[in-house]
Amino acid sequence: MSGPIPKATIAGIEPYKPGKAKAEGFAKPIKLSANENALGVSPRAAAAYRDAVGALHQYPDPRSNTLREAIAKKHDLDPARLIFGTGSDEIFSMACQAYLSPGENMVQPQYAFAAWAIAARAAGADVISAQEKDYAVDVDAMLAAVNDQTRVVFIANPANPTGTAIPISEIKRFHERLPENVLFVYDCAYVEFGDEDGDAAFAMFADAPNVIVTRTFSKLYGLAALRVGWAYGPSAIIDVLNTIRLPFNVSVPGEAAAVAGLEDEEFVEASIAHAKRGRGRLNQFLSGLGLDPIPSATNFVTFRVPVKLGRSAGEIEAGLAASGIIIRGLENYGMPDCLRVTVGTDEELSAFELALRGLL
Ligand SMILES: Cc1ncc(COP(=O)(O)O)c(C=O)c1O
Repeated sequence: MSGPIPKATIAGIEPYKPGKAKAEGFAKPIKLSANENALGVSPRAAAAYRDAVGALHQYPDPRSNTLREAIAKKHDLDPARLIFGTGSDEIFSMACQAYLSPGENMVQPQYAFAAWAIAARAAGADVISAQEKDYAVDVDAMLAAVNDQTRVVFIANPANPTGTAIPISEIKRFHERLPENVLFVYDCAYVEFGDEDGDAAFAMFADAPNVIVTRTFSKLYGLAALRVGWAYGPSAIIDVLNTIRLPFNVSVPGEAAAVAGLEDEEFVEASIAHAKRGRGRLNQFLSGLGLDPIPSATNFVTFRVPVKLGRSAGEIEAGLAASGIIIRGLENYGMPDCLRVTVGTDEELSAFELALRGLL
């Protein structure tokens, strides 16, 4: 008996591979594989989450109005031009569903966040990858890859899995040359950890008809488990996305925790400072061992394992796992000689350093 057959395009999708969370023999491994916030969650957000328990029987506000107003105020944005998602992942998916059809394509950089291609292919579209230069987005290669069938382009800045950032002037140059009928999804999941003003894109694209800027509560705010992301864009696009957004996509505890987290400046500042200090520490340590860290503007560091070291990236990943330390192999991102490590707590980084030194 043959059951229902999915659309042909679905068969070509490689499912998302999350960073591993388990190491055999360790009940509580050190998890440095998913770019989570080393400081955990803001105590104010955690308290708001707990307080929300009394409202679990009620549906959330379908427009997330409390969070909408809080974000509009904090970032000086028009609240009507915001949209919320079950993580920014859901916004990527909505954008692809709304703007991509079979026969059309999405353009992304060579090393791209895997959820984008899943969303594009699920919409039946093709994916074109534009070569990077030294693990950084190459705006000219991106522009050269755009063709008559391109309807959506994605860039993350800073990027995952490389960790690199390009100047916002390059993003501006890219947008100026991009045809206006192409939707540009500018993914700023890690922007607060970088060196440039994270809000500059809002002003830069205030009047652009074809850009949405996405942000998330998963990284800086330590709320990955609650799945809250948002985007700012022109009303015409936001309205389209809202027509296909399923109702109640942001949960009651998620909205409450996000609002409280937004106000916890102490936690935010500490998280940024920790990420910056930690990536400096990792850079120095990794270079000292003959590894080749890629300059990071995020809360993680990706590094190359040179052949002359005599150990492959896979062997290092497995060796660390045997000590209860999980980092991220990047084979499925087309970077088989690279590994990615999250800036963990100081103690976690010490354990990582000790184990890696022992291995090499
Ligand atoms: C570049 C990039 N964008 C978006 C996300 C996903 O964010 P969210 O948790 O809001 O779906 C990630 C998560 O790792 C990411 O690396």
